[in-house]
Amino acid sequence: MLKDGHGRVVDYLRISVTQRCNFRCLYCMPEKPFSWVPRENLLSYEDMFKFVKVAIDKGVTKIRITGGEPLLRERLHIFIKMISDYKPDIDLCLTTNGFLLKQTAKLLKDAGLRRINVSLDSLDKQTTIKISQKDVYDDVIAGIEKARDVGLGVKINCVPLEGINDHEILDILQYCQELKFPVRFIEYMENSLASADIVGLKAKDILNTISSKYSFKKLPRQNTSVAAYYELENGYQFGIIEPYEDDFCESCNRIRLTAEGFLIPCLYFEDALSIKEAVQNDDIDGACAMLEKVLLNKPEKNKWSKNTNENEISSRAFYETGG
Ligand code: 5AD
Ligand code: SF4
Repeated sequence: MLKDGHGRVVDYLRISVTQRCNFRCLYCMPEKPFSWVPRENLLSYEDMFKFVKVAIDKGVTKIRITGGEPLLRERLHIFIKMISDYKPDIDLCLTTNGFLLKQTAKLLKDAGLRRINVSLDSLDKQTTIKISQKDVYDDVIAGIEKARDVGLGVKINCVPLEGINDHEILDILQYCQELKFPVRFIEYMENSLASADIVGLKAKDILNTISSKYSFKKLPRQNTSVAAYYELENGYQFGIIEPYEDDFCESCNRIRLTAEGFLIPCLYFEDALSIKEAVQNDDIDGACAMLEKVLLNKPEKNKWSKNTNENEISSRAFYETGG
């Protein structure tokens, strides 16, 4: 079993397979063109898999593939299959913007993927263009439906932004209820790469909007879930993610591996160690030692939480660490 320096069990690994993305979401990416990490700096699937085996052997039971947009990395289903063949009962999931799902959902499911989280910030074509800065709406919706049809579990993520998509909270809730997809509304997390003038809605504003149409009750917090869950009278459950809340990190059970091979202990933390050399040299003990070290350094709280003295805005890119 893996434990961090604060006694929290760590059994969840998030792997970003690429930082590239075909969208330019306002809350995630800078508008101006910028240079990506060159492809040759990426860890190969084979090298990533060496680390994955270590992590699984030491107690990781859940792996989420993220990006950037993970489906932009070629042959992702091969990597999924490596993991799933090694441990067929692993909880293997993927976070995607949905754009390429129509073509890939079946391959991914057959390779062993179980569930996906898809970003869906709007049900309106023009608003979707405004947020993602690309005409993607039809493909995303088709991708979501395809994923459901091939038997993947689908969850929706939505980041409500003032004056942009905040008027669609009820519509998104309705859409997700109809299709039986759990939805999580995520508070916008400030970062220096996002568009400067966006303002995210806070949980209380989101709940206020929902209460204009529905009665709901708060559910007891599930152990390692980052979301607080609520239940409508008809039994449908939705979640809200509040990274600024003080108890957000209490049950954190995760570490992150970036596409270049950096192990990151917390989404909002500047420290990282590279496992690249170790895995490339087949130095499994070295990779293990780094894992232990990063776990020891895992901070107790993220820097957004109200009880820390850190006021600076994170420059850690979501498209690098995978949200
Ligand atoms: N604040 C909140 N959520 C974010 N995401 C990406 N950037 C941010 C941010 N700054 C979310 C997206 C996506 C997931 C990968 O992370 O909505 O669903
Ligand atoms: Fe791409 Fe996801 Fe960032 Fe949007 S939030 S730009 S889809 S990585």
